[in-house]
Amino acid sequence: MNMNIRTLTNDEKLPWDLLLLADPSRLIVQEYVKNAVIYVGEIEQKIIAICVVKETAKTIVEIMNIAVNQSIQGKGFGKQLIHFAVQEASKRGYAQIEIGTGNSSIPQLRMYQQCGFRIVGVDFDYFTRHYDEEISENGLICRDMIRLSYEL
Ligand code: COA
Repeated sequence: MNMNIRTLTNDEKLPWDLLLLADPSRLIVQEYVKNAVIYVGEIEQKIIAICVVKETAKTIVEIMNIAVNQSIQGKGFGKQLIHFAVQEASKRGYAQIEIGTGNSSIPQLRMYQQCGFRIVGVDFDYFTRHYDEEISENGLICRDMIRLSYEL
């Protein structure tokens, strides 16, 4: 199966099912998709993955959201999207690409580091402060945001 990656245009509907897989807060997603670049992965013209990238400083972009359709996770499409986002950020002249994830998101932490990201900090209690509902996964409560960065 080959995934083709392209930019979602302004007149297309946002794939909310995918966006909410990575981030349970519709309000928070609505805020960061404004002025962001949205890459979508397609297989046979069907959108199966998303990656939202946003400029957060003059030389820095951040992957705000990344998700792959549940039925085809674990097949390498997530990594392919991350490599694409890293290459695009580099082509556009950015110095750094960042990503943040929960302290409980163990497979994701593994994947980002496999893709070349390094842990650079912790935003303590980020999730407890910004999300109404408690998030828990992998036997852990999601409290802190682990910040990772890739020097381009
Ligand atoms: N299922 C299987 N493997 C996962 C995984 C998942 N849900 N999440 C991360 N991984 C890890 C695996 O350990 C794998 O490592 P390996 O190559 O050494 O076996 C690695 O990530 C690469 O996996 P890949 O197949 O490229 O990942 P993916 O296509 O499943 O995409 C996510 C990864 C995280 C985008 C995808 O699983 C997903 O959409 N999850 C739900 C949304 C989410 O958590 N988004 C990130 C929020 S921070």
